[in-house]
Amino acid sequence: LSPLRNVVLIGFMGSGKSTIGRALAHILGRPFVDTDVLIEESSGMTISDIFSQMGERAFREMESEAVRACTSLHGTVVAVGGGAVEDEDTRRLLKDRCIVVLLEASDETILSRIERCEDRPLLAGLGREEKLALIRRLVDRRLPAYRDAASLVVNAEGPIDFIARRIASSLADFDSSAGGGSTSNGGDSPPEVHGIQVSTPTGSYNVHVGAGLLKTGGDCLRNLCGDEARVFLVSNPLVSQLWSGHIEQTLRSCGCRVERALVGDGEKHKTLATASLLYDALVSQGHDRESIVVALGGGVVGDLAGFVAATFMRGLRLIQVPTTLLSQVDSSIGGKTGVNHPLGKNMIGAFHQPVLVLSDVNVLQTLPSKVFSDGLAEVVKTAIIAGEALFGSLERDAASITCRRPEALREMVAACVRVKARVVSRDERDWADRMVLNLGHTFGHALEAACGYEGVSHGEAVSLGMCMALRLSSLLGVAEPHLAERVAGLLRLFGLPTRLSELRPCPHPEDILSHLASDKKRRRGRLRFILPVTIGDVRVVDDVPYDLIEQVVNGRFT
Ligand SMILES: NC(=O)c1ccc[n+]([C@@H]2O[C@H](COP(=O)([O-])OP(=O)(O)OC[C@H]3O[C@@H](n4cnc5c(N)ncnc54)[C@H](O)[C@@H]3O)[C@@H](O)[C@H]2O)c1
Repeated sequence: LSPLRNVVLIGFMGSGKSTIGRALAHILGRPFVDTDVLIEESSGMTISDIFSQMGERAFREMESEAVRACTSLHGTVVAVGGGAVEDEDTRRLLKDRCIVVLLEASDETILSRIERCEDRPLLAGLGREEKLALIRRLVDRRLPAYRDAASLVVNAEGPIDFIARRIASSLADFDSSAGGGSTSNGGDSPPEVHGIQVSTPTGSYNVHVGAGLLKTGGDCLRNLCGDEARVFLVSNPLVSQLWSGHIEQTLRSCGCRVERALVGDGEKHKTLATASLLYDALVSQGHDRESIVVALGGGVVGDLAGFVAATFMRGLRLIQVPTTLLSQVDSSIGGKTGVNHPLGKNMIGAFHQPVLVLSDVNVLQTLPSKVFSDGLAEVVKTAIIAGEALFGSLERDAASITCRRPEALREMVAACVRVKARVVSRDERDWADRMVLNLGHTFGHALEAACGYEGVSHGEAVSLGMCMALRLSSLLGVAEPHLAERVAGLLRLFGLPTRLSELRPCPHPEDILSHLASDKKRRRGRLRFILPVTIGDVRVVDDVPYDLIEQVVNGRFT
């Protein structure tokens, strides 16, 4: 999908992966991630404590998970722990997905670099000669694996900056797509920013959409925050490493005092228990009603931090800084916040409008392909609701969008935000107009449930749900001819499934129908579908004959 392959630095401890990695990331204009930091921030323990309390094996499992998460990113520089590459699966992932740079240094250099460090569990308690002997043994053991994984071998002796520059120029020869500036906004010229207003009875605010806004969004932040505002920045360990540096610097330059709180990555952390940890941090840091919550992350962080902002001291100001495509085009706008209950998603929540949404499309460069595609399903949904102008532009610009060209992303996100802003401005509380945003979701939710929330992502379920809604619409004679084929064509261009048979394993029709039936019970006996008539015209229908629903689910039309 993206030409922006990750650059991964491997090598023995002390070979300079972190320092050289950071310098290389700076030269290439990319974010930098250190898997050791990711492990420490995700577990809340130091590497030494993990080794001593849980053992090396537990650490290696955490390490493989961290490397897996990093290899699915795009356009980053990653430093990977020295032992990770010994694992064959990890090595394969690195070779398949990344440009792997091996940093080599002499045993003496390695020892001189790490001798003073207390936090090297493998060398703890050894004398100099023993350390040297262990380093030699480990280097001999690991070298074949390192060499096998490496696309480029670099001598890492000498000044850091010099080595980083040498790697950068080798990368340019090696793979032109790895060149720098991928996330820049075109030098020093100011980024083009769209400002879109959302007006609801409980709050009006601007959504700013542009490339590079995390660095350049100081002006809109300054007006809001005022001098010496206290900012409680909520993120997760991965997004924080990738992108919090830029926004924290911008906030500080506006005079804000920033405190960061990290929550676990993923839907399973969107709970009252996590919210409670955030309340604890707010209380212990002495925040008051003047503090501002900044949510830096995807929909999970946005919903959770938004809920905390809505409820702590009866409401703090909230700034949404969405970092996934879904959160930029959908969840950060409209004020729905909440957490999951063991018996249902988003069961506990509040409407709490942000005071500002800052959408920097550059952050989308690092999204894993699957997360990016998931967001595109919501984009297509928005375009079907919006009309020919947006839908046609997606068809025309599909190649630039899938390559993640910043200008294409900026225009696409801004267009979707305009649609969402219009809908929520008319119906903040989701009683009427806002319902159309559920296009594809009635079938989609049933599909997700029938798959046990595994094997199908939300975006894939929405994509299939839209195709099923379109087929239902055709069966009812509501949809115009060829509409279903046209929408499916765009979904396919965006790498999304359009047929149930593409799912592995394919859910059983009876399971989908039974989940639709329980949805029906929840809605007092009626199943509501949003049915497209044509691009730009969708209809809310809740009296669909059951046998037509059965036909769609049974796949005769999928
Ligand atoms: N409030 C609303 O109106 C609304 C609307 C739709 C969905 N939602 C909620 O949104 C959530 C889903 O949001 P999501 O799809 O953004 O998922 P997510 O927040 O879980 O993010 C997906 C993954 O992408 C990673 N990520 C985020 N930004 C990244 C970046 N720039 N680069 C690399 N990786 C990055 C995250 O760490 C995570 O692993 C669900 O909980 C859903 O209920 C809310």
